[in-house]
Amino acid sequence: MKVGEFHDSNRKIVGRTVLHHDVLESTNETAKELLETDIEEGLVVWADRQVAGRGRQGRAWASPAGGLYVSIILRPKEAHAWILGLLIGMPVVKALRHFGVFAGLKYPNDAVYQGRKIAGLLCEGVYRRDVYHVVAGIGVNTNVDLDKLPPDVQPNATTLKREVNLFVANDEFLDYLLNQVDDLYSRYRNTRVEFLLKDYRGQCTTIGKRVAATTSKGKMTGRAYDIAANGALVIMDDAGGKHEFVEGSLEVLK
Ligand code: BTN
Repeated sequence: MKVGEFHDSNRKIVGRTVLHHDVLESTNETAKELLETDIEEGLVVWADRQVAGRGRQGRAWASPAGGLYVSIILRPKEAHAWILGLLIGMPVVKALRHFGVFAGLKYPNDAVYQGRKIAGLLCEGVYRRDVYHVVAGIGVNTNVDLDKLPPDVQPNATTLKREVNLFVANDEFLDYLLNQVDDLYSRYRNTRVEFLLKDYRGQCTTIGKRVAATTSKGKMTGRAYDIAANGALVIMDDAGGKHEFVEGSLEVLK
């Protein structure tokens, strides 16, 4: 059920309108349904909890009450839209740092703190009525007790509540986050994407680490070495061969 609607006309595109729900199956799904209507770019769907939250690679995203679950509707040009999904990790990390968790960015767009995931992003490109849209779904473990997450997730996850003594309300976190995403999106629209990828590279803590990448082609280990112009993670294997990783699962090795 919709419990509120907020407007902020100071924002450029992202978050001028926020639709707040108590519970949804998945904010990404609701956002996609809204694409059937004439809705403004930058509209945000926010839910207090999700009963069918989705993660990348067909995984579920545990979405208990206390966490922050939002989806943002964007209409970028299709050309670099996949890279936009990487870049939105930056404002998420920035918001976490602002509220006291010195998170880093694990490729492609996970926010992690001391190796434990605290936020994730699911960006989906969809055509509706011949127009390309991106639904950028962001899930942040804000006011969640770790034991409310599934047992298999707990060892590799953390929450803002666990890491910071100060209580941070979700609406306050969301307000800051949306300001940051709005800034990023206007830079994305007005700046060459290679400049933004340079920023991303500087914030991506996977660079320089040993990683194990599993893709449809199999598993390989090596050192994460660079971000390619297409946004791929360049991994150098132990024989000096370079590989570009975009899709699959990536483990950062100790
Ligand atoms: C991941 O790391 O696997 C991505 C997680 C994305 C979760 C968010 S929560 C809001 C939005 N709605 C969903 O169903 N998923 C995304």
